[in-house]
Amino acid sequence: MTAQVLDSFYEGKAKVLYNTSDPQLIVQYFKDDATAFNRQKFGQIVGKGPMNLRITVAIFKLLEQHGVPTHLVQALDDRRLLTRRVEIVPLEVVVRNRVAGTFAKRYALPEGMHLKEPIVELFYKKDELNDPLITAQAATALGWTTAAEVARIEAYALQVNKVLCDFLLIRGIELIDFKLEFGRAADGTLLLADEISPDSCRFWEVGTGKKLDKDRFRQDLGGVEEAYAEMVKRIVG
Ligand code: TMP
Repeated sequence: MTAQVLDSFYEGKAKVLYNTSDPQLIVQYFKDDATAFNRQKFGQIVGKGPMNLRITVAIFKLLEQHGVPTHLVQALDDRRLLTRRVEIVPLEVVVRNRVAGTFAKRYALPEGMHLKEPIVELFYKKDELNDPLITAQAATALGWTTAAEVARIEAYALQVNKVLCDFLLIRGIELIDFKLEFGRAADGTLLLADEISPDSCRFWEVGTGKKLDKDRFRQDLGGVEEAYAEMVKRIVG
């Protein structure tokens, strides 16, 4: 890369973002820090940064091949990813194929229950409020997005779901649910941003139902690093 890495401008729960000499590009540094339940629980997952980076790069490349534009430019080393700079749409976009997590809790449903079709849920990305569920109508009326943008986001989310379910199933993994974030590049293009990793997805091993994602950390199940390493093996090979 020709752009120089400059100062950091944002530190989140799992990543630090750096400006570069090219205003259109930023560097994302993947940390080992892990939080759950909006920082009520925190710790480290040793080697998580490099593992999530490798998984994200492999998945974003796959998605690009299937017509989903992403912020990915290239990995610089095992923890640093060069990406397009985007203005993040303040929505966490969750796709669910089976009942789990907050959905199971919200409706008092058993974890693992099948859904007749995938569902897309929108959450307002605001840590101080614990990322509350929001309707597309409210997000649009508040001026945070537009009806047209939400329609594109939901279509991309379902497309990502289809591509990932197929890709993972032949690797012995069922995609239970996941979270996406989208951003707008300077030229207005809507791009898939953030990451797709065991931090942001629920992966269950086909046959055994073994959890191979951050739920092992959230629920103190043990074998956290091993689960992330197993997902690197299945996805990156
Ligand atoms: P949930 O069931 O806790 O709402 O989570 C749904 C999916 O979204 C799950 O795969 C984990 C992911 N997720 C994140 O990536 N970040 C978050 O802050 C939350 C709450 C969930």
